[in-house]
Amino acid sequence: RGRLLSFHRMPESLDDRASYLYEEDGGLLIENGVIAAIGDYATVKADAPEDIEEIDHRPNLILPGFIDTHIHFPQMQVIGSYAANLLEWLNTYTFPEECKFVETAHAERIAVHLFDELLRHGTTTAAAYCSVHKASADAFFAESLKRGTLMIGGKVMMDRNAPQGLLDTPETGYDETRAVIEQWHGKGRNHVAITPRFAITSTPPQMEAAAALAREFPDLHIQTHLSENGEEIRYTCELYPEAADYTDIYARYGLLREKALLGHCIHLSEREADVMSETGAVAVHCPTSNLFLGSGLMPLKKMIRRNKPVTVSVATDIGGGSSYSMLRTMDEAYKIQQLLGERLNPLESFWLMTRGNAEAIRLADSIGSLDPGTDADLVVLDARATPAMALKMEVVNSLAEELFLLQTLGDDRSIAETYVAGKAMKSTLR
Ligand code: GUN
Ligand code: FE
Repeated sequence: RGRLLSFHRMPESLDDRASYLYEEDGGLLIENGVIAAIGDYATVKADAPEDIEEIDHRPNLILPGFIDTHIHFPQMQVIGSYAANLLEWLNTYTFPEECKFVETAHAERIAVHLFDELLRHGTTTAAAYCSVHKASADAFFAESLKRGTLMIGGKVMMDRNAPQGLLDTPETGYDETRAVIEQWHGKGRNHVAITPRFAITSTPPQMEAAAALAREFPDLHIQTHLSENGEEIRYTCELYPEAADYTDIYARYGLLREKALLGHCIHLSEREADVMSETGAVAVHCPTSNLFLGSGLMPLKKMIRRNKPVTVSVATDIGGGSSYSMLRTMDEAYKIQQLLGERLNPLESFWLMTRGNAEAIRLADSIGSLDPGTDADLVVLDARATPAMALKMEVVNSLAEELFLLQTLGDDRSIAETYVAGKAMKSTLR
């Protein structure tokens, strides 16, 4: 029981009441980890079995669990590293840290922390880059299986321009990715993604190997990075002189399609954005990371509004990103759009964190809404979680204002509870 909020589609304005369901005194019935019924409390209660356990979350808001469409599992200890830009940050801090994941015990220890932090912040699904080491993917998926979460993950493929300890080869990158797919894809709620890190760290033969995997597994997600930083873009185009531009490199290897998640996409040309649109690939906006690394201001609203719209999603990009919280993430996304002269309204923000991200990764049949038949992954939000928030709530008088307050001042303290497949997780976290 609580206040229920679930989106049907992208809100077109703050007044677009038809884009979402809101129940002031709502009931949500969960059976076997799945949402069985939703509506006003009295109706759901009347139709429910008599012996159900009832949990009262009033006056808090119950939403579908947050989805983070781009995060780096081996970068939990990279967060807050002081670097001038992307390439310096990768070489100085990130690659050395990822080398440690050659130790299985280390990967297993960090995986426990990763899931604790995700769930503490109300994130129930994430698309994660593991390290180059197959054992890091094993640790990630084993932990996901334990928690019962729906996770996307991939062993990173990288065979050049990084320390020796972080390199695979075209052959081992292919073989180990295949092994991860066979071992983990479809096990529990796990999804395996083909994950060439980015064009700078893959030779053309390794990109061929990624292309072969993409052909052999047409339904899998693909993850990589695209157009994040000026220096990165110049160097990438030098490495692939035959390509028309950065986006064309991935297009040539058949890596752009639905369920291809391209991190950043900050500096795309119109031609590149057209290609993204035509192929159905997803531009993953990582606002805290883009600001932290000084990468640039991603034109999120412009991408959505184009004649040929680009599918967008939002993500933390930990450890380039600086918060696990999707609330903090959308606060920074809002500010980036402000600097670009665009408005991102709170309904759009909460749609993006939930159903928008679920649609972008093509999993809206299972997650991202409170629709009956979908998995009961939920977040319970407390807009009075801190003294400052409670004070501001005294003058808040609409749902949109409350959501905007949650986005502006909220973080893990605003997460009253997180449910994974109907199971309350907060008491299980360290
Ligand atoms: N490009 C290639 N690898 C990375 C990474 O780990 N983080 C970010 N932000 N960009 C990248
Ligand atoms: Fe990234």
